[in-house]
Amino acid sequence: MDAAADRDQWIALLDFYVAAGVDVALDEAPHDRFAEADRPELPAVSRPPLTVQPEEPQRAPSPEPRIEQRLPGLPNAATQPAEVIAADARARAASARTLEELRALLDAFDGCALKGTARQLAFADGTPGSRVMILGEAPGAEEDRTGKPFVGRAGQLLDRMLGAIGLDRNCVYIANIVPWRPPGNRTPTPQEVAICLPFTQRQIELAAPDILLTLGAPSTQVILGLKEGITRTRGRWYDYALGERSLRVLPMLHPAYLLRQPLHKRFAWRDLRLLRRELDRGV
Ligand code: URA
Repeated sequence: MDAAADRDQWIALLDFYVAAGVDVALDEAPHDRFAEADRPELPAVSRPPLTVQPEEPQRAPSPEPRIEQRLPGLPNAATQPAEVIAADARARAASARTLEELRALLDAFDGCALKGTARQLAFADGTPGSRVMILGEAPGAEEDRTGKPFVGRAGQLLDRMLGAIGLDRNCVYIANIVPWRPPGNRTPTPQEVAICLPFTQRQIELAAPDILLTLGAPSTQVILGLKEGITRTRGRWYDYALGERSLRVLPMLHPAYLLRQPLHKRFAWRDLRLLRRELDRGV
């Protein structure tokens, strides 16, 4: 075969990979994860079990210790047992006193393998302390490039949806249940969502909204602990305990789904009106 035809074939193959969502090379050789899952659990790696250390004694007027120095060890998704990583995630999240601290702690957290394939953390957009917080699923390509949630096509639709009820992204706070882009925009696995959950819960606490919009099934299910799909849960109010008070949660269809199923925008419109009514009640 001549070189030009060869080249065209390689380009066609790459196009096929991109269309199929295979756009990140993870390793030199493929792994059979199913076979690996059957193997007995690897012995714990030499790192000592994670314990939260007392704060360093204050030395005279030195600056605040860096956040990652307050917690020892760097449990790594590839080398540590899941319980160690989960305990580290909980300890880090609980230690954050502000959203900025939470962001820095999450950025230094190596317990979620998605961090290894994403370009950067896409932590939040909008205004902390807004009455409405919006919780999506995971960053896509554009969010990965800019480090902000909901800036791609789904985000632009979200902007129009907010605009339809007199809101914009500056008067809401926006985040995702997973802050790193899954390769090829696949749905994050339940394990990835669970590892990030303590950070998500703390982010909700620190952002302190009155109303939480969960967009799509994964964010609705993990926040409300429900198994039902989004077509069953959307458009109804739920309560979410937040310390002393409780937060109102409204599950809605995800804008990325609405881009694929435009006829279902009528359900989203109903839900947006519910949200507007609740905001107008000023509760
Ligand atoms: N979809 C999401 O759930 N979140 C984003 O940030 C972008 C698309």
